[in-house]
Amino acid sequence: MAHKKIGIMTTGGDCSGLNTVIQRIVDACRRNKWDIIGIQDGTDGLYSNPTKTVDLTNDAFQFASSHLAGSILSNGHAWATNFESSARAGKLNTFNKRLQKSIKELQLDAMVLIGGNGSLSLAYLYPEIYSGLQLVCIPKTIDMDVPLTDKTIGFDTAVQQLVSYCDQLLLTARSHHRWFIVQTMGRDCGNLALSAGVAVAADAILIPEIKFDIENLVKHIKQSKRDYGIIMVSEGISIRGHSGKPAEMISRALNTANIPNRTAFPEHIQRAGDTTASDRILAAGFADTAIKAIENNETNVMTVLQNGEYKTISLSDFFNAGKQQKDPNIIGAMTSNAYVEPDNVLLQIASDSGIYIGEKRK
Ligand code: F6P
Repeated sequence: MAHKKIGIMTTGGDCSGLNTVIQRIVDACRRNKWDIIGIQDGTDGLYSNPTKTVDLTNDAFQFASSHLAGSILSNGHAWATNFESSARAGKLNTFNKRLQKSIKELQLDAMVLIGGNGSLSLAYLYPEIYSGLQLVCIPKTIDMDVPLTDKTIGFDTAVQQLVSYCDQLLLTARSHHRWFIVQTMGRDCGNLALSAGVAVAADAILIPEIKFDIENLVKHIKQSKRDYGIIMVSEGISIRGHSGKPAEMISRALNTANIPNRTAFPEHIQRAGDTTASDRILAAGFADTAIKAIENNETNVMTVLQNGEYKTISLSDFFNAGKQQKDPNIIGAMTSNAYVEPDNVLLQIASDSGIYIGEKRK
């Protein structure tokens, strides 16, 4: 097998499972006798002078800690020299050129980019950055909003984190006969709230993709056989005429109806937690697929899981399959997003289980 020099980096928000992917890729490179370099801090590390790298070839990668959340390579500052702030300052071209130069200097044959739909969209939109090497992407995000893949790294662990969190809340909820309105992450995609809500048998699940009626929600809670429970609310929902955090909006409505309640914000705990078995298996599948793609000289592709099958698709297929929306931070750039579709089996299961999921699909 031809010798290769591989770069690997994690970009966008962190999540559990990144270290498992890195570990599996590093192991495969060692088996193939390929060199592997870790880029620290994602694109910020490529932008830095000198480029922030770590040689993973002989590094004693901590296999025993590869189940821990975060990324040993770091994801970069949310506020520093990243794409968004460069774009805001009108310096995107300079930024991209610098990345291109760094990659060239590293003399890489392939780059494994582990990122969410923002990073993948940018990789598709600015292919010149990675020209001259094979670009193989691996989708990760707790939001599960990447088109054309049934799973993304980190989602399952985030659901598990929410389940553990709600299990704890339910104990105190029961003691005080009160409801907890749990606001999940997920941006404008309801997958995280939907899965966690079904898993904990929430009494209501509110997601951005489905309109809901606050009076019907109140009625549903009042008719519940219990006087405590979980109302799972995705951070992306909105109610006309109300501002502030969605969980607080719901709380005010419940207060008006004299339903005792508290709000709860698990926040970044959703991106932490030991990687679940399911995320580790996904990491193994994606890493194996990425390595095969490199062996086969593929480029501008991403790994996906579709109906139980691991394979690669082109970044162009990924980008065109989703709902393209303007990137709020990069003028002229779009991101491609997936959402909870009306035929999502969990909606039916939730509804059949007596969970209030709203009124009308948007
Ligand atoms: O995209 C992942 C995510 O965790 C979203 O669910 C959330 O809205 C956002 O990132 C939070 O970003 P930050 O960590 O920058 O606050």
